Amino acid sequence: MALLDLVKHRKSVRDFLDIPIEREKIMTCLEAARLAPSACNSQPWKFIVVDDRQLKNKLCDAAFGDIYSVNSFCTTAPVIVVVVSEKSKFLARIGGMFRGTKYYLIDIGIAIEHFVLQAEDSGLGTCWIGWFNERAVKPILNIPPHKKLDILIALGYYDKAKLHSEHYREPMDKIASFNSY
Ligand SMILES: Cc1cc2nc3c(=O)[nH]c(=O)nc-3n(C[C@H](O)[C@H](O)[C@H](O)COP(=O)(O)O)c2cc1C
Repeated sequence: MALLDLVKHRKSVRDFLDIPIEREKIMTCLEAARLAPSACNSQPWKFIVVDDRQLKNKLCDAAFGDIYSVNSFCTTAPVIVVVVSEKSKFLARIGGMFRGTKYYLIDIGIAIEHFVLQAEDSGLGTCWIGWFNERAVKPILNIPPHKKLDILIALGYYDKAKLHSEHYREPMDKIASFNSY
């Protein structure tokens, strides 16, 4: 699909089909993420793909209990990808401190969106998940306590007929201008 069509077609999916995902397709998504640009080429990410059903259910129970239960729809996803935000290179961290910019968040955002768009192109739905119990997730996947998890990705096949209509986006003249603010 042409890129703009792909971008227009993608929507957050919150209702997945109970169909396993081919590892080959997941690998293609990971490859798209792997090739993402990052500040000082730090590549500050690690993607942990959880496609073992039992483990995934355990993960979802831990991640989406209590105040996080609004995201318990993720249990319907056959795969959850846990994105570990790894340490950026020294120069990117120092530059980021100087600028007051968390480059690593920009970096993982780009890599995740690469993943998401490749998933869309492969006929898979995704939902970015930023609201989850980070502390409860780590021991389940042997992630050291000092590591940072900012985002999970719910991934799976979905019923295209059931997708919600497009979300509102701000008009072009509000979000962009030429030559002056
Ligand atoms: C950083 C980030 C965090 C998000 N966290 C959640 C979340 O925890 N739960 C959820 O259902 N959607 C989450 N979303 C999805 C947004 O709600 C969604 O992208 C937005 O409403 C626009 O809708 P669309 O993706 O269908 O175009 C998140 C998206 C981003 C980019």
